Amino acid sequence: MRIYAAENYEDMCLKVAERIAALVITEPCSVLGLATGSTPLGIYALLSRWYADGHVSFRQVRTVNLDEYLGLAGSHPQSYRYYMDHRLFQNVDIRPANTYLPDGTASDLTAECLRYDRLIASLGGIRLQLLGLGHNGHIGFNEPGDAFVPGTHVVALEESTIQANLRLFDSIDAVPRRAVTMGMRDIMGAKSVLLAVSGADKAEAVVKAVSGPVTPQVPASILQLHPDATLIADKAALSLLHEIECIYYTNIQ
Ligand code: GLP
Repeated sequence: MRIYAAENYEDMCLKVAERIAALVITEPCSVLGLATGSTPLGIYALLSRWYADGHVSFRQVRTVNLDEYLGLAGSHPQSYRYYMDHRLFQNVDIRPANTYLPDGTASDLTAECLRYDRLIASLGGIRLQLLGLGHNGHIGFNEPGDAFVPGTHVVALEESTIQANLRLFDSIDAVPRRAVTMGMRDIMGAKSVLLAVSGADKAEAVVKAVSGPVTPQVPASILQLHPDATLIADKAALSLLHEIECIYYTNIQ
């Protein structure tokens, strides 16, 4: 895994957004795998701005998101569909019909998981998968467990994840306890993977993901096996990694 250090959150977002924009400019029909959470907010804000400034178009891009809460319709402000619509899709020229997320309200979840896997396959797989990192090492909503799960599946969220998500809901009872997430086959099948991490609170998870054993107890550790995985993290998130493990990356702007 290549590791690039950014100065801070803003710099991390810039470095990640530059890579996404460069890909979309050079390969306009790209299938982007997208993530939610706090980490990508600055990335999506930059992409939205660069679209508004006429630097990049998403007209031919197709997107598949990693995950969705179970039971939240797209109109719910905390659903990932709502997040994506408001943080990126409505700000750029992407065709709404080309934006895909798992349906957390599907009545037949087994069929929905299968549909999502087939959808990703029908798009030809993912060109670039953007990932955030959970405090427990999760990617998407692939929580620590006894085995890596290959396909899209329903997960029971860990208590620590539920607590982390509480900041976005009115009460603990309102935080969804289950979600549907893309599995490791589609994430690892992406041609390139970009892991974006910010903050000292993620430093321990970064060490485990990057230099610990590859184990389903730390889902992100599987990225060590990916042929084109890049971690872009700010110095706070890299603070527990030995300096020799980082390629310090200077800003060329
Ligand atoms: C959430 C999402 C992940 C995200 C992670 C980190 O639960 N399902 O896709 O990457 O947790 O979130 P944040 O960026 O808010 O720290």
